Amino acid sequence: MAGVTVLLVGILLVFIIQDLIQKILRWRKMPPGPWGIPLLGYAPFIDREQPLKTFLELKKKYGNIFTVTIGNVEHVIICEQEIVKDAFSRVEFSYKPESFAFISAAEGHNGLLTGHGPTWRDNRRFTLKTLRNFGFGKTTIDGIIQHEALTTCDIFRRHLGKPCDLDYTINVAALNVIWKLTSDQQFSQEDEKAMLFFNLLDMNLKDIKDLGALQFYIWLRHFWPSVKSSFGRIMGRIDFVKETFKSLYMEHKKTFDPNNIRDYIDVYLNEMKEQEEKGEKNPNFNELQLLINMQDLYFAGSETTGNTVRWAILLLTLNPDVQKRAQEEIDSVIGRDRVPSYDDKKRMPYVEGMICEIQRHADVLPFGLPHMTSPDHNVTLAGYTIPKSTTVLAFLYGMHKDEKFWPEPTKFDPTRFLDSNGKLRTKVPGFMPFAHGKRQCLGESLANMELFIFLVTYLQKFTFRLPDGVKTLRTDPWFMEVLSKPHRYNVVVEERL
Ligand code: HEM
Repeated sequence: MAGVTVLLVGILLVFIIQDLIQKILRWRKMPPGPWGIPLLGYAPFIDREQPLKTFLELKKKYGNIFTVTIGNVEHVIICEQEIVKDAFSRVEFSYKPESFAFISAAEGHNGLLTGHGPTWRDNRRFTLKTLRNFGFGKTTIDGIIQHEALTTCDIFRRHLGKPCDLDYTINVAALNVIWKLTSDQQFSQEDEKAMLFFNLLDMNLKDIKDLGALQFYIWLRHFWPSVKSSFGRIMGRIDFVKETFKSLYMEHKKTFDPNNIRDYIDVYLNEMKEQEEKGEKNPNFNELQLLINMQDLYFAGSETTGNTVRWAILLLTLNPDVQKRAQEEIDSVIGRDRVPSYDDKKRMPYVEGMICEIQRHADVLPFGLPHMTSPDHNVTLAGYTIPKSTTVLAFLYGMHKDEKFWPEPTKFDPTRFLDSNGKLRTKVPGFMPFAHGKRQCLGESLANMELFIFLVTYLQKFTFRLPDGVKTLRTDPWFMEVLSKPHRYNVVVEERL
């Protein structure tokens, strides 16, 4: 018996040593990084309250590109704009990792966020074209955003003069814009379903965060009760989202009229119909892709914009001088009565600079979204060899807080984005809120329109201030797996007279 035990321990040791040697050989060519511990990697050393701080420290220690193993997954983290540009403009860096949350939501590598290869490429091109044709930069989308901005103003008026949390109101407005474009529907602020959708993503991100490094060993759900229950909750919420989109899709299919195209779903149905009629069916367009695309537009398009606007109100409340200067520009270019339109932007450099500075501070996706290197071959980057199928992230937060580009990085100063003539600087080094390259944010134009129309409408009509007796508000980010948002806060809204 003792002989068998010794043999088994011996075999195990051989495996461990072999694994270690392989790792060392592999790591020699990869960007440097900290050692972790077996199975959990560096996860136990990441600050649970402020994980972004840990990554800033790693950047300081290892430089602009480093490797961190979390669980059993190696992550290459890029902190330098030029290296991000080099990597993300190449197809070999455009793949998507096997992250269980993304893969479960997308039922595999489908849709815009999790897809890769020709299916993603065709659906991305089609979605970009569709959103552009809907009127990005034209009046139709302007109109939808203006309507939402004005509805939000009516809600703000209900709370005038007393401390209030605008969190939900702002996020419903952002959710409604993308919802209207995809499915021609909008929520009222009182709608229970909107509240559910609003909480859903947060609850899932919290469950994933609580799983920590265990999320990389999802098979543990078969043995470990707490992993099983987290996984069950996450999947339940994903199923609810799927059901909602499925019924929207069925409704659209029933009422589809090619002469009355209402939204993204209709354009997609029409595309499939035309391909079939021409006998040129492209298999990359199908019901599953449409459903996952709808879901992805909702995930990617609502919280990102909503959270940026929430950061904006927080930062403007803490910086009344910036708020005042923006209001003066709004008064002189638009006046107090006309509804702001995206066309006004080019005549408002200070507001434009302010929005850039808000985005630099907000960093709603501090690591962008995860990429993966080609599953077929190793790739080289910045003099290193990165093995095939490695997860790669752009540490946008690290770039946006880099003192090399941003002296006193925590200071909120819109003039960083203006030249000596007060004009907006273009191509500002170290600034890339929408990332770069093949997978650059697909909703960038929409997001820019939303941020401008929402913020200018609010500042045209209201001033935001701290509640009496409150000296300041928290400005450290609340990081939830991929998203960063401000901690909940109260402000006082005052109508401008
Ligand atoms: C302030 C608002 C927003 C910010 C800061 C933002 C930022 C980003 C970033 C950093 C990425 C990752 C790019 C990469 O993988 O390298 C991304 C991807 C994406 N965004 Fe946005 N985004 C915003 C709003 C929107 C909106 C409104 C939409 C809706 C149309 C949208 C749709 C997407 C999609 C579909 C992707 C995945 C693109 C792909 O992988 O091909 N985003 N966004």
